[in-house]
Amino acid sequence: MLDLTTMRATLAEIYDLAPSMDLAEEMRDIHAKMDRVVPLPDFARYAPYIRAINKLKREKNAVILAHNYMTPEIYHGVADVVGDSLQLAIEATKVQADTIVQCGVHFMAETSKILNPAKTVLIPDVKAGCSLAESITAEGIAEMRAKYPGAPVVSYVNTTAEVKAASDICCTSSNAAQIVAEMDSDVVIMTPDQYLAQNVANEVPQKKVVWWEGSCIVHEQYTKDDINAFRALNSDTRIIAHPECPPDVVAVSDFSGSTSGIIDYVTREMPGSAMLVTECSMASNIADALPEVDFTGPCNMCPYMKKITLEKILWSLHTGTEAVEVDPQIAAKAKIAVERMIELSQALAK
Ligand code: 13P
Ligand code: SF4
Repeated sequence: MLDLTTMRATLAEIYDLAPSMDLAEEMRDIHAKMDRVVPLPDFARYAPYIRAINKLKREKNAVILAHNYMTPEIYHGVADVVGDSLQLAIEATKVQADTIVQCGVHFMAETSKILNPAKTVLIPDVKAGCSLAESITAEGIAEMRAKYPGAPVVSYVNTTAEVKAASDICCTSSNAAQIVAEMDSDVVIMTPDQYLAQNVANEVPQKKVVWWEGSCIVHEQYTKDDINAFRALNSDTRIIAHPECPPDVVAVSDFSGSTSGIIDYVTREMPGSAMLVTECSMASNIADALPEVDFTGPCNMCPYMKKITLEKILWSLHTGTEAVEVDPQIAAKAKIAVERMIELSQALAK
């Protein structure tokens, strides 16, 4: 298990990690990407880690794939590729470097390993889980199949390799509706996110969508009443919700999309002010690129995503831990479900 005290003491002996305003000034080009949300004295604490990680990445021939919910110092400071779950999965198939450091949650690292098994895939904290991935097992999929014989199982990528292996195809929030619409059956089983499933059911009325009762602990907290109360006082603010939010929240929002879908929407529409009904770091990561937009709350933190920090990334690269492994037989089956999703969503995008 990761012992923070030992980790910090060991890193401090090997690397110069003392906060440095001089180094922060030297790295102004990186700070400029986050200076709306990270003051220079805070950046002075991050700068030594960013320098050490970027050097070690080159020495170890590693790349960092980071999810849109990473904190700004990770997103802008050390990531080689950033994106939503679908983009990160596609990027994982293209990695040439020896090592992938997955800055996101465990199912994302597992997906990278499934898609590119020859690479070493590291996760800086194995405890970076996900309430959705924890809500269902392969037995749960079997239960759903028994209840709805013959119906295809579309599982969100926020699942373990075992669950993916037991599913017919995967989906992410950016392609779920299109994938369900393409299934050759009137009844489609969606697991494990009940809210994503209900939002898809509204978008694809020609299908009877049935679902598992899982939910995201970040997005389930938003309520329609919160959104309506906010809108009553801030009628000019564009309200944008992730599809893991309950359907009544999505119904009173102006737009709903995956994390990258949200970024594309705000970039395209350039509203004077926007409220991103999703994880906190989303707005922080795009604030500097969109100075014309005022980002207002609410914001809920994902405690799993926030387990990934600069010091754990440095430790992960330094020690080569934790390497993610997937049983080859399970990986082979899971790969079919993930690749089907990638192929179908790329074909539909043409
Ligand atoms: P995206 O695929 O939209 O990035 O979502 C991943 C996730 O875990 C959101 O909570
Ligand atoms: Fe899982 Fe929700 Fe965190 Fe995304 S935000 S990783 S769905 S718990």
